[in-house]
Amino acid sequence: MSRNFAALAVVASSVLLRVSAQGASVTYTSGTPLASKHFDYPDGIPYRADPDDGVRGTQFGYNLCNSTTENQSSLCQTAFINALDDFCLWAPPNGPETIGDTEQEEVAWCTKPGRGTRVIPEGALQGVQFMKTPDYLQVVGFIDQTKINMAGDDFGGELDPHGADFRGNPLGGLVYSNGFPASNGDNNTFIQAIEWHNFMGGGAFCFKICDPAGAHAADFCQHIYDRIGCAYNAPNNAQNGSFTSCEGDDQDFPGVYTSNGQVLTYTQPPESLGVISTLPYQPRVPASSNCLTFSSADLFAAAATTTASSSASASG
Ligand SMILES: *[C@@H]1O[C@H](CO)[C@@H](O)[C@H](O)[C@H]1NC(C)=O
Ligand SMILES: *[C@@H]1O[C@H](CO)[C@@H](O)[C@H](O)[C@H]1NC(C)=O
Ligand SMILES: *[C@@H]1O[C@H](CO)[C@@H](O)[C@H](O)[C@H]1NC(C)=O
Ligand SMILES: *[C@@H]1O[C@H](CO)[C@@H](O)[C@H](O)[C@H]1NC(C)=O
Repeated sequence: MSRNFAALAVVASSVLLRVSAQGASVTYTSGTPLASKHFDYPDGIPYRADPDDGVRGTQFGYNLCNSTTENQSSLCQTAFINALDDFCLWAPPNGPETIGDTEQEEVAWCTKPGRGTRVIPEGALQGVQFMKTPDYLQVVGFIDQTKINMAGDDFGGELDPHGADFRGNPLGGLVYSNGFPASNGDNNTFIQAIEWHNFMGGGAFCFKICDPAGAHAADFCQHIYDRIGCAYNAPNNAQNGSFTSCEGDDQDFPGVYTSNGQVLTYTQPPESLGVISTLPYQPRVPASSNCLTFSSADLFAAAATTTASSSASASG
């Protein structure tokens, strides 16, 4: 199922922005691109990673998140991908909304309390696969997206730290992990993922964060294939109803495939050419090993307690 989900996902607004950027009608005039900003966690986190006011306005929420910001109205925009039971997704602050309509303002929804964010409500996650490879961490899963302010019929779109104005979607969104090798298994050492992509929609999601120490972080976390979803950007064998943590080999770079011994690069057609109904390749799902399977109740017990006490304020 997951291999086909959101294969035709479209993010109208970001595609249009990118097209106009290529036509040079949008230029970046102020500030440093989000993907060039580095902040240590927790001591170096600014109130807002993006203090600018540009074509798309100001950052919607904030990055400095703590116990005072932690409730179901939190506008925290600092996310984490740590482990099967410890990750966040980007989703709308108010709902129901589509990702395409709210991409610049998404907030962090996390599996656990403790970092000043919203918590993904109990029962929303229907199946999750966490994958650790030499170059990235990836979480893929199935979700009742209406529980995180998404419209039920949204086939979604892509969030990443780029965009036509280089301010990211969401603007100023930051992502950290204690799961990269340089963290040394120390659960308190968080490294900033400079390159990442998160596809949300069609009742599923994938969120890949690339190890900044790797030589190809920007390639594995490529952000230009925003219309072809998780199947092509994060090939996986996640199963609905199953909660699994694995180690795996690296994928091919999104958009790069081998046909008759030749390495080729796919060009995503512009939206003006209509729906993408066929692609010239099937992505390769890399081998995985050491998979551990858990029950949902074991994993998300903390979410259950949090949601019970804050459900009155859910969905902002
Ligand atoms: C907690 O977060 C809020 C909102 O970002 C910020 O104003 C406040 O200074 C933070 N408190 C501490 C102790 O960091
Ligand atoms: C959530 O926390 C913020 C920041 O402390 C506060 O302003 C807001 O009233 C809280 N909202 C709810 C619904 O508790
Ligand atoms: C880090 O957290 C994971 C679970 O999230 C746990 O299994 C592991 O033992 C922890 N490591 C340390 C060094 O505390
Ligand atoms: C995943 O399983 C749940 C529970 O059976 C189901 O409601 C949901 O539609 C499934 N999601 C997808 C994307 O197939």
